[in-house]
Amino acid sequence: MTQTNTLIPSRQLSTQEINTEEGLLLKNGLDQFQLNQTSILLWGLVDGYRSISEIIKILKEAYPEIDGAQERSIVNTFEMLASQELINLEPKPDTSSNAFEKPAEPRLVNYYIPTPEMIWNLELIRQVVLGTLEVYPAQDCDDTIDLSESGLQKAKNLDVVTAGSNKTSQVTPYKNLATAKSFRACSNSVAGEIQKLLGHEDINIVPRGHAYYPAGMSMGWHGNQDAPGLRIYCTWAEFEKQNYFRYENPESGDIITEWEPAGWAVKAFRVPQSPKRLWHCIHASSRRFALGFGVMD
Ligand SMILES: [Fe+2]
Repeated sequence: MTQTNTLIPSRQLSTQEINTEEGLLLKNGLDQFQLNQTSILLWGLVDGYRSISEIIKILKEAYPEIDGAQERSIVNTFEMLASQELINLEPKPDTSSNAFEKPAEPRLVNYYIPTPEMIWNLELIRQVVLGTLEVYPAQDCDDTIDLSESGLQKAKNLDVVTAGSNKTSQVTPYKNLATAKSFRACSNSVAGEIQKLLGHEDINIVPRGHAYYPAGMSMGWHGNQDAPGLRIYCTWAEFEKQNYFRYENPESGDIITEWEPAGWAVKAFRVPQSPKRLWHCIHASSRRFALGFGVMD
């Protein structure tokens, strides 16, 4: 193992992703890098927590045929991205306060590492979504979103089922047949990968809301009490620790704020049967995608 393998790639705050005819282009000032299909997958695995050797391990689990030469080429890709200042390569930081470290069991929200196959399909969905976004005008928005404890109290008083947001956007992947087909196929593949992650290949997982959050968007406290069941969210954050999922522990009343890593992450939680509630809300300071899936009770 080389010394580079132990470094952790993380996205530079100033790196932009630009959709081009050829695929995804990373740009930071004058530096730029066109991602091919393999490097899109590498980029998807950059979350600011995994080292290069951990990323290679994940890839080798999915693609055992990866050989030494391909491993070196993966390391080279990361070194090139770093030399062009599109990512940082740094030694593992102290992660004692990292919400994504394996928690003491049990907890209400569980996190899974997305499989490479899943990231591949999630990235394809994200590309489709980026090309079909519609962001609604400000008059449709609610500027009074309150994610504090008093906002939670108001939501409880009104028994809010689905929340408003201060910015709204709509994912419209069904604008044309080709886009719709590719979106549906990718979404089905992600659902299949979720079954594997959860270890239940016989459960029926259905898409439940695929949303884009522009930077600065908040979604208020709500309980989703109209649709109890298991929820699985594949979330993508442009930058680490900028976006959070906040919820109230219904047993202790504690409000827990869990910051999301950069790139793709998978979380699962249960919307309980009435009269119980799992009150939750979301804030995104950096761009965020949330692709929801559900298993209905
Ligand atoms: Fe929700």
